[in-house]
Amino acid sequence: MSEHNNQDYTEAELAEMSRDEKARLGLALDDVELVEYRDNWPVKGTRAERRAERMVAGWFVLAGLSALAFIAVFLFWPWEYQDPLADERAHFIYSMYNPLIGFFLGLSILAVGIGVVLYQKKFIPHEVAVQQRHDGHGPTEGSSEVDKQTTAALLADAGSRSGIARRSMIKRTAGFGAGAFGIGAGVFALGGMVRNPWAEEGPESLLHTGWMRVNGEKTYLRRDTGNPHDVSLVRPEDIDAGGFETVFPFRESMREDEHELISSMRKGDAPVMLIRLRPGSAPIKREGQENFHYGDFYAYSKICTHLGCPTSLFEQQTGRLLCPCHQSQFDVVNTYAKPVFGPATRALPQLPITVDEDGYFVARGDFVEPVGPAYWERNS
Ligand code: FES
Repeated sequence: MSEHNNQDYTEAELAEMSRDEKARLGLALDDVELVEYRDNWPVKGTRAERRAERMVAGWFVLAGLSALAFIAVFLFWPWEYQDPLADERAHFIYSMYNPLIGFFLGLSILAVGIGVVLYQKKFIPHEVAVQQRHDGHGPTEGSSEVDKQTTAALLADAGSRSGIARRSMIKRTAGFGAGAFGIGAGVFALGGMVRNPWAEEGPESLLHTGWMRVNGEKTYLRRDTGNPHDVSLVRPEDIDAGGFETVFPFRESMREDEHELISSMRKGDAPVMLIRLRPGSAPIKREGQENFHYGDFYAYSKICTHLGCPTSLFEQQTGRLLCPCHQSQFDVVNTYAKPVFGPATRALPQLPITVDEDGYFVARGDFVEPVGPAYWERNS
């Protein structure tokens, strides 16, 4: 081999060489010298070697079992919101959904990682190689046949020296761990597409809020007095020009259901800022929503469209609603609560309101777009 350079070998000569010879040739052509090469288990089949094998296999089994547990929790654990006021135990079980899928997915990844690292430490022969520094290759015309065959031989040699072929317990458990983890990753990626949030109807569905009209009943704007049993409805004369109030949905039928009466004020998508602009204000209306306001009264969702914090500060001077979390500002005096500062990019959804024959504010319907962070498509 020594009188050749890497272009000199004919296909016939390469065909006659063993894999070992090609691997050695590959190293020589790359100017690589093996200074140390130590097999961790020179005597095969010792108890220590079997113990090391079982340890690695144990981590892969743990990875597989965790991945299966992750899939089971992801698919079958009760994930729908349970009100703690109605059933504390059901709420606890529901609240464990995210921690459990995170725990089992994390444990599975960790166990696969530990198994691979342990295998590398215990079974891959320890070697030290030195390569001479080169100036680099000139213009290349692609790999020669010698390069291809010696590279393939080196890869095959590394695979055989890793000893994986004769360690069937590790092969089987690694297959189980990696396979279950792969299926889990697939379920994780596709699971969210299985349920269609548009398919459900009713105030509890993702597409609607508590402001949705149910059975033709009026939905009043109710203030929070601090006592959840106290129903206080809002009239236009309750709010001075330039003032505002946080309101929640209320229907007369809620008086018969204490749970509904309380939970309607606790739901994340319920709070609305009812703002009375100063007389003469003429904010730009959003197309199709020109009649959502009532006189100088405008009602906007209180849930920030950035990450869902309450936009609870109304600055009279500038006419802006401020979100304290990341300082988004929504202009309600000049526009339809469009963001004018900060990270939020979408306007606050507007609730269509009017006043009924008894002089109370009522919602004319639900929001026409999702409230809060825009996790599905919106037009604004
Ligand atoms: S949640 Fe409001 S600005 Fe980030």
